[in-house]
Amino acid sequence: MKISDELAYAIASVTEVAALAAHEWVGKQDKNAADKAAVEAMRNRLNQIDFHGKIVIGEGEIDEAPMLYIGEQVGNLSAKHKLDIAVDPIDGTRMVACNEHNAITVLAAAPTGTLLQAPDMYMEKLVVGSAAKEAVHLANPLEKNLENLSAALNKPISSLSIAVLDKPRHQHIMQTLRNFGAKVIPIPDGDVLASLLAILPEHAIDMMYGTGGAPEGIISATIARALGGDMQARLVSRTQAKGDTPQNRLLAEQEAIRCQQMGVNIGEILTLDTMVSTDDVMFAATAITPTILMDGISLNSQSRTSNTLLINGHNRSLKIINNRHFN
Ligand code: FBP
Repeated sequence: MKISDELAYAIASVTEVAALAAHEWVGKQDKNAADKAAVEAMRNRLNQIDFHGKIVIGEGEIDEAPMLYIGEQVGNLSAKHKLDIAVDPIDGTRMVACNEHNAITVLAAAPTGTLLQAPDMYMEKLVVGSAAKEAVHLANPLEKNLENLSAALNKPISSLSIAVLDKPRHQHIMQTLRNFGAKVIPIPDGDVLASLLAILPEHAIDMMYGTGGAPEGIISATIARALGGDMQARLVSRTQAKGDTPQNRLLAEQEAIRCQQMGVNIGEILTLDTMVSTDDVMFAATAITPTILMDGISLNSQSRTSNTLLINGHNRSLKIINNRHFN
């Protein structure tokens, strides 16, 4: 059953209410409170929609996330329309807390069984737009990918812009990219937005590369699938991403167990089709703080205005919904 426009709009209202709720916490230095507000708003709205959703990517496992945990069922459990849901209530909780740009609420949906279920762990990701489809591969050395990207986009390497999360684990990657002559766009947080910009042709990012959250990775894969871009990824253990400490070793052991239960392997390259096996996929993101693609939540004495980007894979469309909510 295709995701109808009506259902897509209803689902987009989920990121909208979450952004309105999270906006109350902008600049208040409390990222957990912002996240909680977004999660509660999302869950309440999801439960008002006439569909049966299962969270395949969410806030974490049931024992660590009271709501929107992996496996949670939402909506109307007897509805005919059954969807897999991947949510990142806020991509950029730190940006909300610090009143920085580029914090968004995010949700993707696709028919049941079409989104890869993976634990809430780290993931290495390589994301490009349709012009570079099949030109780059995670198994290639970085230099080879830069050469292939340059040929596919018909640009010299010195004109390529690569977005990389600005984290200690990526300093050597950023240096290598610069050594090969490419421009690095360091992003403090928020790799879903960076992946979206890499997939859209008119923006200043040619490729997004690096290790971030797996939920953000599967969500980014829905955008690539919907708009004809490309992506590969592999799950990365906590020790590899964050360092070999006793605590990280314990977390890595738990991740390995969860991967086994979910039938996914750490280190194995996941193709776009493995992560999202249908074009009938939708993605919604509402800006909490301003982004290059859509304005953040704005307020006046009578209303609040939200901007939601809605991508529908089944007709390859992208729209921005500007919605004014009167008090
Ligand atoms: P949250 O807002 O959900 O914390 O995610 C922000 C983010 O920057 C993601 O975009 C990215 O995938 C991940 O964190 C990277 O994780 P870490 O900050 O632990 O390196």
